[in-house]
Parts: sequence; C-alpha cells; structure tokens
Amino acid sequence: MGRGLILGIESSCDETAAAVVERGSRTLSSVVASQIATHLRYGGVVPELASREHLRAIVPVVRAALAEAGVGLGDLDAIAVTSGPGLAGALLVGITYAKALAFAQGLPLIAVNHLEGHIHAVLLQQRESSPISRSEGPEATANEESGAALALVVSGGHTHLYLAQAVDGTWRYSLIGRTLDDAAGEAYDKVAKLLGLGYPGGPWIDTLAQFGDPGAVPFTFAQIKTKAHLGGKAPRTKGAATAPIADLDPRFLFSFSGIKTAVLRYVELHGMREAAAERVPRMLEMGKPPDTRDDALELCSQATLDLIASFQHAVVGNLLRKTFNAAESLNVGSILVTGGVAANRELRDRFTAEAARRRVSIAFPTLALSTDNAAMIAAAAWSRFFAGEFAGVDLTADPGMVLGR
Ligand code: KG4
Ligand code: ZN
Repeated sequence: MGRGLILGIESSCDETAAAVVERGSRTLSSVVASQIATHLRYGGVVPELASREHLRAIVPVVRAALAEAGVGLGDLDAIAVTSGPGLAGALLVGITYAKALAFAQGLPLIAVNHLEGHIHAVLLQQRESSPISRSEGPEATANEESGAALALVVSGGHTHLYLAQAVDGTWRYSLIGRTLDDAAGEAYDKVAKLLGLGYPGGPWIDTLAQFGDPGAVPFTFAQIKTKAHLGGKAPRTKGAATAPIADLDPRFLFSFSGIKTAVLRYVELHGMREAAAERVPRMLEMGKPPDTRDDALELCSQATLDLIASFQHAVVGNLLRKTFNAAESLNVGSILVTGGVAANRELRDRFTAEAARRRVSIAFPTLALSTDNAAMIAAAAWSRFFAGEFAGVDLTADPGMVLGR
C-alpha cells in the first residue's frame, strides 16, 4: 500500500464532489461544484437537470481534487463512490466514472452509503484534530476507534437517528428513528419555496430567522403515538422506503409534512402570498442572505420574519427533543449531528446548550462538511478498504439504499 490515499466521488443529489483523503483522517482536497444556480428557479432539484450537470462537472471536479491534493491517479490506493441513496441518474454519473477510473488504474473500488458518509464527516473532523502517528501502521487509524454515538443525519433527503458503534475499527449502525414523511431540510425547502425564497431554503431561513420572533406563531407537532396507524404500509419518503418502521420506538419517529401545511395555511390566511412572488429576483440581487434587520426588511415584512423564526424554532425544538430523549433512553453519552441542516445556527446553539445541560458530548461537522461533499465519502471508505470490502464491476446505483437495519 502507498500513502493510504482514497479518491472519493459524490453525485447523489445536486452537488458534484471529489476529494482526496489520506488514511481516512487527513483531507488533502475537497472540491464541490454546486448546482444551486440550475435548480434555484424551480424551487427544488430537477432530476434530469441534475444528471446533465453532473456529466458536465464530473471530469473537471475530479481533476481539480487531484491537482489540489498534489497527487496523480497513480498515487491513489482506492476509489470510493456514493452508491445510494439518492437520485438514480445522478448516482450513475459518479458510479460510472469511478468504475472507469478504477478499472483503468487497476484500483479497488469501494461503494459508500451516502448516510454513512454524513456520519463520517464528523468522524473525519475528529480524526483530523487528534491525528494518529504514522509510525503506528496503517491499521492504527481504523482500530483506534471504539465506542458508540447517537447520530442525527438531518438533510434535504433524510432525518434519521442511528446508533453508530465502532468495534475493532468497523462501524456498525442501527436505525433508531426516522421521518415518516418529509425530511427536515425538505420542510425548509418547501417553506422557502412557498415564501418565494428559492432553493435551497435552509441558508436563507437560517439567517432571516434571527430577525423574527420565534414565539410569534405557536407551531406544534402531533405526537406519533402508535405503530398501528402505519397500517403495514411503506412510508411515502424518498429512499430507504423499506426501513422497518414498525420496529422503531414511535417516540423517535419524526414527521415534518404537517408543519409545512401549517405554514402554508398561515401564509394564505394572512395574505402573504403576493409579496412572495417578487422575492427571488431580489434575492439574486442581494447575492447572499442579509445580515442586518434593515436589509432583512427589504426582503420580508416583519410578520414574515416572525413566521420564519417560529417555523425554525419549532423544527429545531422537535429535532432536539427527540434526539436527546433517544440518547437518554439508549444511555449514549455522545451525539453527532450531521447533514445540510446541521449547518443551522439555531440548531447548533440549542443542541450545544442542551448537551451541556445534560452533560453529554456533542459534535458537528464544519459548515463545509455539513452539506454534501466527497471528503466524507473517502473517509467512510477507509475502514472498508482495510476490511477488503470492495465493489465489483457490476456496482450500480441503489436509490433506496438503507443504512444499518
Ligand atoms: O446534506 P445536504 O447537502 O443534501 C442532502 O443530502 O439532502 O443537505 C441539503 C439540505 C437542504 O434541504 C438545505 O435547505 C438544508 O440542507 N440546509 C439548511 C442549512 N443549510 C443547508 N437547513 C437549515 N439551515 C441551514 N443553514
Ligand atoms: Zn447529503
């Protein structure tokens, strides 16, 4: 083995990303080409456009990742690629390219679950801040890790709680809870769309919420009481449709479609629709979310800012309650929060304060590692590399791929 260099490739949704990570613990490069500009005007990701943009970006993004890392294809030890969950056409672009590169270079190919990738975004960062000495041999990094953490993966496609456990360097995951319908980030994006705030909604809602009153609109979440109401049907979510929901504790199940409907009703009742129509052009003029109240008021009325703050307060409160209760009930002293919504300021502040109050440890990825990237994919591949868990030439996209059981 060489230096333990893995090239990671990620194309599951609307980001084309490539990264070179050394020994699963040092990021040499991480390049992300975002398609936000392509999807903005549609208020969501258009799958056909996503595949087309991935095709356009994949070669330059991989080249840039190698160049930034200062390595050539010949220096690599393996190629890792996201094989699911995600959009089938989008995943296939990364998979096909990764396969071609691996075949041409005679390198092993490693398939990575996108959700496991998000969890490893936090682990990568923890390894980067406490590196293991190189003289300890290649297995050291993998074998070093042990213990358990409750991981909340909260993004545009997922709201999942996992118990992650490292045993002799191999990570195992059990599903503890998940959303029955929309993901939290999806609720952010849908609320943003109906308020005329473009796509993705998270970053703008995050900033605008600071200037509103979180107590203005008392949104509530219905309790998910019994398993019976599922009626044996698979839930209507993208991906992971076969996860065994009936086995999960209903206290750790989420539902975000109700709050989206409540916001819609509020907007219609208070005649806030018209103003929404003019927002996207003004957002494009602004370029980035406003950082003063005066600038925020250029975009939204105070009533809209209050609605935004109340929505966010309710969503974050719901995520917080369920996550900490799950940690307590499982007796886990360590929580990881990862995925695009983990970039949210209020979420970080309130989770950090609650963790201090309950004396549990909490970790988030850096902002760049919170949203989709390929460094997390290369990092997640490291222990697979050691275990010799390689993918064959028949690797294909698994849009509904589940993690754990
Ligand atoms: O992890 P990610 O890049 O892609 C998925 O795997 O889904 O997450 C994207 C999601 C979008 O729904 C976006 O609105 C949300 O993360 N997001 C945020 C923030 N930044 C991104 N949500 C709340 N606050 C943010 N600061
Ligand atoms: Zn993601």
